[in-house]
Amino acid sequence: MKKVSLTGIKPTGDLHIGNYFGAIKPALELAKEYDARYFIADYHGLNTMKNPTELNSSIRQVAAGWLASGLDPEKVIFYRQSSIPEVFELTTMIMAFTSKGLMNRAHAYKAAVQENNEKGDDPDAGINMGLFTYPILMAADIIIFDSDVVPVGKDQVQHIEMAQDIAQSVNANYGQPVLKVPNAAVQENVAVVPGLDGRKMSKSYNNTIPLFVPEKTLRKTIMRMVTNSQSVEEPKDPETSQVFQLYKLFADNSEQAALAARYRAGGMGWGEAKEELFRVVNRELTPVRERYDAIMADIPALDKILEQGAQKARPIAAATVKRFRKAAGIDC
Ligand code: ADP
Ligand code: TRP
Repeated sequence: MKKVSLTGIKPTGDLHIGNYFGAIKPALELAKEYDARYFIADYHGLNTMKNPTELNSSIRQVAAGWLASGLDPEKVIFYRQSSIPEVFELTTMIMAFTSKGLMNRAHAYKAAVQENNEKGDDPDAGINMGLFTYPILMAADIIIFDSDVVPVGKDQVQHIEMAQDIAQSVNANYGQPVLKVPNAAVQENVAVVPGLDGRKMSKSYNNTIPLFVPEKTLRKTIMRMVTNSQSVEEPKDPETSQVFQLYKLFADNSEQAALAARYRAGGMGWGEAKEELFRVVNRELTPVRERYDAIMADIPALDKILEQGAQKARPIAAATVKRFRKAAGIDC
């Protein structure tokens, strides 16, 4: 039997090139080897997104983005977290095995408390129980599908370790392997994609190149990239240029070598370097954008795909809950 790879995708806003290379592509690569279960973590989104229209459209945009990028719903079980009520049942069950101290140590919660302290606010200001218990819901997401590996960025490793702790506490208590203990698959070899200003591309820095914008907007965005003030004539170092770092993600080896030589020779200004970048980005993203637009034009079909995914996922989730209830003496 193939091992299970599972990951959750937060439905927050527009996907960008950092997400594409840092999360989507590696997860789709893993799906070739593993039994993949990928889902939209919409109840996690609810912690921060209280505007229904925004949350609703983010869920669809993110789902369409993954499908347009090549997720095959025939091969990957693709669903919305909110369609699997068993996840929330398991969340309640594992709460009984999760110490409050473990949650106190969660990085995201600690950062929120620290920020409040620095501002002189009440330490709990703006922190809802959804944020505080976030790692428990995430552990349930993972454990319920007997996941072997969880592809995530480094920032999520602590959450996976917490899921391991929780599953181990349950198993130790009942003296049997009731729950599968998951492992993180940290994408070490995935480079941090630089944003328009050279910092890590991130929604929070407002420096992203969005995946699904019209060609004109894409070009304008790329032209806004920050560069140094070297003149057209001056030779340029491709290795220290973020324009070239992005180019490398989209160009093949011979294109990279040819453009690097032009950088080094001088005579090419930043405007032209960005045009070259736009050309390769647009070449890769045009078919993805076209698929995305087609998917977004038929929301009922998209919802059907997610619903069909949920139908495949629910029996697996129900079996885990049943196993746990039996071990716990609740299903007598
Ligand atoms: P953002 O920083 O824009 O809020 P998220 O935190 O929602 O992005 O990231 C979702 C996924 O995309 C994570 O797996 C994260 O590791 C990956 N990711 C985001 N930005 C980048 C980047 N600049 N380079 C590589 N991977 C990234
Ligand atoms: N917490 C993850 C993030 O912020 C999203 C997520 C929710 C997740 N549940 C998950 C990731 C389960 C992996 C497995 O990106």
